[in-house]
Formats: sequence, structure tokens, C-alpha cells
Amino acid sequence: MATHTGADGTDPEMFARRASSFGAEAAAYAEHRPDYPEAGVRWALGSRDGALDVLDLGAGTGKLSASLVALGHRVTAVEPDDGMRGELVRLLPSVTALAGGAEAIPLPDASVDAVVVGQAFHWFDQERALPEIARVLRPGGTLGAVWNTDDDRVEWIAGLGKASSGRVSFLDWASGRGIEPHAAFTPVENADFPHRQPRTIDSLLATIATHSHVLVLEPAEREALLGRVREYLLTRPETSGGSFDLEIVTREQRCALK
Ligand SMILES: C[S@@+](CC[C@H](N)C(=O)[O-])C[C@H]1O[C@@H](n2cnc3c(N)ncnc32)[C@H](O)[C@@H]1O
Repeated sequence: MATHTGADGTDPEMFARRASSFGAEAAAYAEHRPDYPEAGVRWALGSRDGALDVLDLGAGTGKLSASLVALGHRVTAVEPDDGMRGELVRLLPSVTALAGGAEAIPLPDASVDAVVVGQAFHWFDQERALPEIARVLRPGGTLGAVWNTDDDRVEWIAGLGKASSGRVSFLDWASGRGIEPHAAFTPVENADFPHRQPRTIDSLLATIATHSHVLVLEPAEREALLGRVREYLLTRPETSGGSFDLEIVTREQRCALK
């Protein structure tokens, strides 16, 4: 992780802490984080038909793996965090789950048709990860990266972003951590997919509590941040009444091995 220089004003040590923070709340992550829209998952796989051998890299608790299995693909999940991988194994026993990271993938050369990455590519050291991804892909294989982002074209959701940002918030999809052009891959394509998640104030707060910039805070600071967000949601007519939908834009990138 030494190459992350804190482009958003955060130092490499905090970056590394955030990247490895998720396992502390793995069960809550699995329960509350959104899944991915089916059309977006198909696009991230290169819009190909038929069952593929797919690597879900940085698989976490298996949000993306679950969609891949549902579409009939053969899935191998690689995830460095024991807590996150433990949830994945519990929830998706049919998926082969391996300990490892994007910079040293524990798979043989040319062993998968596609690599997909859910909400995790921004944590990778791309200089090391992209050659590794190229190594494990078969000829013509594809790389797809997906991120669920709150749709801040909606006014109350833009306000939520402000209310929930804290001392070490720094990343969003647009902050330059997507797939960079690389000689081994075709030019990167981009696409957005609409998505939504039914929410209550409590479930939305439970989700925000699984974000890395919240996970790394001291308990008092974390409670203060979540309290601020609760107050905000109670003031908004869209959310104060009980159930509501959180509008999501699933932002994606893909490319193929040259
Ligand atoms: C926000 S979670 C996303 C999990 C899952 N892909 C999903 O869609 O919900 C980010 C995941 O990336 C993993 N991660 C962090 N650094 C990584 C790296 N260098 N290589 C592979 N995975 C990494 C974390 O352990 C965590 O499980």
C-alpha cells in the first residue's frame, strides 16, 4: 500500500487502516450493504453469454459473488480479511473462498474468464494489481469494477453525504481511484446503472456504520457522527416517516485483456 500518497488529504497509514477495517463489522456489512443491479453485473462481465469462471477480487462478505452465482457462473472469491471471508463462507458455501489480495492473487496463470471487483478496486495498489489481474485472466478475459454510490442528484441524498462525512472521509468513486489505462488492457469503458435499496433510518445508519471512514473512528466520535446523521434524517420529510428508498447509482468500469 506504500504507493498511496493520500491524494484526498489522508495519509498512507490511514488509507491502510481503512482498507483493512471492514472485518470488525462483517456481519453488519453482510446484512446492510446494498447488492448490485443484475444489468450492471452482466455489463461488468463483458456482456457475455454462458457460464464463466469468475474471480471476485476483494470479495468481502460475497455481495457480488452472490449475484454471480445467481447468474450461473463458477465463482472463486479472494479476500484478505478473515472476518469478511468468514461471512462469505457462511453465506455462500458453494463458492471457493481463498485468502489473498489483488497484489498477489492466489490463482494460477490464465485460470479465469473474468475478474470482477465490487466496491474494492480503489483499495488496490494498481501498479501491482493490474499485472496480477492480467496474469490470471485467460486470453480475451475481462476486468470489471463496480461501485454503489449514493445518487446525490437527489437533494436529501446530497445532504446525507454532507451530514455523514467525517474527519477521515476522503474517497468516492470520482476521486481518481478507478482503473487506470494499462498496456495489458483495452481502453477502459464506463457505464452507470440505476439501483435502489429499501431503507429505514436505523438500517441506513447501520450501513453508514460499516463505511471505513466511520469504522476507524474512536467510539465517541463514531457515535457523534451517527447521531448527526440521525438528526438530519429526522428533519427530512423524505426519510422521517419510516420507510424510504435510497437511490443509488452503480458506477462501473470494464476493459479486456489485449
Ligand atoms: C467495501 S468492501 C467490498 C466487499 C465486496 N466486494 C462487496 O462488494 O461488498 C472492500 C473489501 O476490499 C478488501 N480489500 C482491501 N484491500 C484489498 C486488496 N489490496 N486486495 C483485495 N481486497 C482488498 C477489504 O478487505 C474489503 O473486504
